[in-house]
Parts: sequence; C-alpha cells; structure tokens
Amino acid sequence: MALLEFLKVTYLRENKHILKNLSLKIEAGDFVSIVGSSGSGKSTFLKLCCHLISPTEGQIIFKGKDMRQYNPTKLRREIGYCAQTPSLFGNTVEDNLSFPYLIRNQKVDLARVQALFASFNLDPQFLTKEVKGLSGGEKQRIALIRTLLFTPEILLLDEVSSALDVDNTLLVEAVIKELNQKGTTILWVTHNLEQSRKYANKLLTIENGVSKAGEVLR
Ligand SMILES: Nc1ncnc2c1ncn2[C@@H]1O[C@H](COP(=O)(O)OP(=O)(O)O)[C@@H](O)[C@H]1O
Ligand SMILES: [Mg+2]
Repeated sequence: MALLEFLKVTYLRENKHILKNLSLKIEAGDFVSIVGSSGSGKSTFLKLCCHLISPTEGQIIFKGKDMRQYNPTKLRREIGYCAQTPSLFGNTVEDNLSFPYLIRNQKVDLARVQALFASFNLDPQFLTKEVKGLSGGEKQRIALIRTLLFTPEILLLDEVSSALDVDNTLLVEAVIKELNQKGTTILWVTHNLEQSRKYANKLLTIENGVSKAGEVLR
C-alpha cells in the first residue's frame, strides 16, 4: 500500500484550474523532488499533501484512508510541512522552538534543540534571539528546526534552502538525507535542478497544474 496516494486530484480556485487530474503514489521511504516553473502548482501540491487545503475533485489517500477522515492534530504530527515563506510567531526563537513541546505537554529538550542548531550552523545563543531581527536564511532554518524537533513520517519542504548560501544549503541537504535514510519520506520542492537530482529517487515535474509522469531516478 502506498503511503500517500493522489487519485485524479483537481484543485480549482476562482474557477481556475491550479492542479488538474493529478494521480500519483508516494511510497514509504521515497525521496521525491518536485520541480516546475513558478506558478505551476508546486506549493499547492504540498498544501494538499498535508491537508491545509482539500481537493475540489478526486481523493487523497494517506495510509489507506481518505485524508479527510484524520484528526487534524494527529495528521499535523505525522506530516511535517515547511512553507515557502517561513512563518515564525511570538517574539523569540525560543517561543517557536518550545511550541512543539508545549502542545505535547512535554518539557523542552534543550539538548535536541542545540544538536539541531549545531547541524544547521547556528550558534547556541540563537535561542534567545528576536524573530524580527533574523535574516531570511536564519528564519528558514529555524522553521525547519521547529518541524524537525519531533521527526515526522512525511516531511514536506517548500524551497526551504532558497535563501541559503552554498555551505548552509549543503548542511540542510545532509540533515534531510540522513532523515530519509532513517525512514522519513521526503517531498522537496526545489528550484535547484542539481539539488533535485542529488538525493531523490523520484522526480515529479509539475507544469501548468499538470504533472508529467514521475521519473524514477534510482
Ligand atoms: N489562494 C490562491 N488564490 C488564487 N490563486 C492561487 C492561490 N494559491 C495559488 N494560486 C495560483 O495557483 C497557481 C499555482 O501556485 P503555486 O502552487 O504557489 O505555484 P508554485 O509553487 O509552483 O510557484 C499560481 O497561478 C497562483 O497564482
Ligand atoms: Mg511555490
């Protein structure tokens, strides 16, 4: 059974087809790169994958059940999503990174936070920094760390390294690759064609809301 399956999914917005008749299967352990021109529907596809939006027509099946049958809180814990524009809340980085623990009634695991800071080349003092003073690339990494504090089953990444320099992009790639090797299924939208082919076993191209047949890379 596929982990995630799209059955003839169409998404309309103001009578415009954003995605048309999309059918595909994602297997557990896949690393899927999603490419396509700006405005082709990539971000919309990821939002459907985590039920932030629902299909106008067709069905999305997660672990054998229609996405709409899941409790949203449970779904959010199993499917991690990093949006194209990172949205941080509150005043400090700590407000953001304590939140995943707070909603689970757990004490913040500072060792885990610091280990992730180290993986992403962020200084330990980052915890107390104010959100409003962060650069775009720093916000991207904090949003990613917030999603990774508890490892999701599926990780949806929307151009999460677009504001990073080469070295920091490589760090992010290394963390994601390791997560995939440990079993997390990755769906990564990227503009970077080299990046799209580096680790992925499948390549999904979306053009004008239509996906070309998924290409198997390895
Ligand atoms: N909430 C929305 N309302 C109206 N149009 C939208 C909305 N979200 C996306 N679109 C349109 O859908 C198309 C696909 O958008 P998007 O999925 O963000 O593309 P991509 O991520 O590939 O750049 C674009 O033409 C965009 O303008
Ligand atoms: Mg997008």
